[in-house]
Amino acid sequence: MNLDKISRKDLYDILCNMPKAELHIHIEGSLEPELLFELATRNGILLPYATIPELRAAYDFTDLQSFLDIYYAGAGVLQNEEDFFDMAWAYLKRAKTEHILHAEIFFDPQTHMARGIPFKTVINGLDRAISQAREELGLSASLIPCFLRHLSEDDAFAALEDALPFRDKFIGVGLDSSERGNPPEKFARVFARCRELGLRLVAHAGEEGPAEYIRHALDLLHAERIDHGVHSLDDPQLVARLAQQQIPLTICPLSNVKLRVFSSLSAHNIGTLLAAGIAVTINSDDPAYFGGYLNRNYTATFAALPELGAREAYQLARNSFQASFVDESIKNEWIRELDEFFSGMEQELTPAPNNGK
Ligand code: HPA
Ligand code: ZN
Repeated sequence: MNLDKISRKDLYDILCNMPKAELHIHIEGSLEPELLFELATRNGILLPYATIPELRAAYDFTDLQSFLDIYYAGAGVLQNEEDFFDMAWAYLKRAKTEHILHAEIFFDPQTHMARGIPFKTVINGLDRAISQAREELGLSASLIPCFLRHLSEDDAFAALEDALPFRDKFIGVGLDSSERGNPPEKFARVFARCRELGLRLVAHAGEEGPAEYIRHALDLLHAERIDHGVHSLDDPQLVARLAQQQIPLTICPLSNVKLRVFSSLSAHNIGTLLAAGIAVTINSDDPAYFGGYLNRNYTATFAALPELGAREAYQLARNSFQASFVDESIKNEWIRELDEFFSGMEQELTPAPNNGK
């Protein structure tokens, strides 16, 4: 494949149209203001914002915590199974238009359980949307409940108990919420239990927290993928290890800029991490709050970083399939589809031989 001759315009089309997976999306973070207002009306909830523009104006974050405060408040409009279905269905329909073949979707059961919403209500709504996406859209998706790290480990154990009767409806567990001051070791016992249960393990680490949190997520939690992980670059030995062991990072560029982890996309370290041989992926995190879904994360990042070209586009999409929690045979099928997309692009871009005329 000759990927070096592709123009920036063609690159934009490639990024939007290539098959890809999304591995770091919080479904509560896909709740658009329009649906948020609709659900508030449906459920008789009074919001502290009179209009959609007023709500959007509040999406001006200074750090992770300033975002989380608004994000948890927004999730308060979700009351019934139908609400969770509508939110997930909206995301899955959008994912289909962005050529996402597979999504591994986070949700935060504890934020809903604290409001008296049973785990069953949450997971049944999300699971129904996923089943419908499989049947009607041909899109594959699975669920990963996350423990809230600002709460206690006992709280996480209680959430796990509530989740286990629905074990067949989720593939693993994650760890999210306020990172600083809530290190991975706080959750070592509950992750050990999840590991015994055969659940897949991921954890947010090194978003705002130090590189040490990434090492501890790997060594103490046995996380198989690191969500964010951008602070790994502060520790050269860790970078070498991530590359050598091919531990995927699910990076969310627009999120990182909105939450001021980086001052701008052009200051982002994703190109450096990719060049170091790490299995980096691009993801949207909380698209309704951070200014874009997956394709916008790709296009804005590539527009800001000249070192990213078609070769990196291919690598990132390939990594997204490789890092997913599906059977090898399915991964290989998707990677074959990706290869076909790129060879089709190459043919389109290479002028046909003129047979000597
Ligand atoms: N970090 C931590 N917790 C979260 C995030 C995030 O980016 N999004 C939703 N919950
Ligand atoms: Zn996240």
